[in-house]
Amino acid sequence: MALVDARGGLKNPQFKVLKNIVSSQIAVHRPFGGVVPNLAKREHIKNLPKVLGQLTANNLKLKTSIDLIAVTVGPGLEPALWTGIEYAKQLSKELKKPLIGANHMEGHLYSNWLPRTVIASRAKQSLKQQSKIVSPLSHVKEVRNDKILFPAIALVVSGGHTILLKMDSLIKWKNLGETLDDAAGEAFDKVARMLKLPYPGGPEIQKLAKKGNPKAIKFPRPMLKSDDYNFSFSGLKTSVLYYLRDNPLVASRQSLSADVAASFQQAVLDVLVGKTMRAARSYGAKSVLLCGGVSANLALREELKLKTNNLGASFFVPDFEYNTDNAAMIAVAAYIQYLRKKKLKLEANSNLSL
Ligand code: KG4
Ligand code: ZN
Repeated sequence: MALVDARGGLKNPQFKVLKNIVSSQIAVHRPFGGVVPNLAKREHIKNLPKVLGQLTANNLKLKTSIDLIAVTVGPGLEPALWTGIEYAKQLSKELKKPLIGANHMEGHLYSNWLPRTVIASRAKQSLKQQSKIVSPLSHVKEVRNDKILFPAIALVVSGGHTILLKMDSLIKWKNLGETLDDAAGEAFDKVARMLKLPYPGGPEIQKLAKKGNPKAIKFPRPMLKSDDYNFSFSGLKTSVLYYLRDNPLVASRQSLSADVAASFQQAVLDVLVGKTMRAARSYGAKSVLLCGGVSANLALREELKLKTNNLGASFFVPDFEYNTDNAAMIAVAAYIQYLRKKKLKLEANSNLSL
């Protein structure tokens, strides 16, 4: 749940996150190796009132100063979506404030319009700023709101989606391609399970991959050379499965499984980065945007940033806090919907996409 200050029109919307609380259910679902829908619903019912209390510090004045309430209507697990929608409807009635439905994937896309924190190196600071620094190694955190220029290519990579978009403006885009089978995050989660790593697998693979050699095993780069912008990760996942079946010692030896993690991660990155950069070149992109849970992957962020900058375009990725699911991005998507006077039905829609 989040409290976001949103202002400005569609030409230059401005956002400030006042509070962003993520009530993680990872520990609840971890023993089952993935999200269990009914457990998710139960946890939502239990947590929503608690988190609202934390968000507003039970301050009635703050609660009544809210202008607009936003809720995710999809895509996602229906029982969880319905719980959120019913709760938001009740809150909207209680506070007598309008309620707006938001698309989870638009939330990921628009997470790049949240201000971001950059670590400014000393060299880039003014002399006046430098004189205030005590340690020669210290860095300064700066909040930046750099404007995203169009056309932009956006890579949206989460647990359920892998989509490549060409954006001509904040509200006008074309879907260039998407995954034909598993999403990138899903592939990370499934390969992690094969390596007996806990859920969610993405961060675990990233951690293990750091200790391995990304060139150790030649896993396939599915559809890298195809002349469309679609993706496919199911064959890569199967290659890892066969490799582990043919090399039974791997799963029990960390040095060997680190090579599998690093080689698998590199195969996913090569395809994601390769296709995104081909789109950026073809469409003369001024910006490349990365978002969705997998955008928390450091190697992916760094590689895409480097290649984007080599092309002379600007690279954007949200702060880590806003990569994986969060409510601040939903507030941004809802505000943009509100500016567009576009209304989504206040009903769970698990199939909603971009
Ligand atoms: O966007 P998100 O929080 O939820 C969905 O909308 O699906 O994305 C979750 C996905 C999971 O599959 C998770 O394993 C992946 O994002 N993920 C990562 C990393 N952190 C999260 N994948 C690779 N590297 C990471 N560091
Ligand atoms: Zn998500």
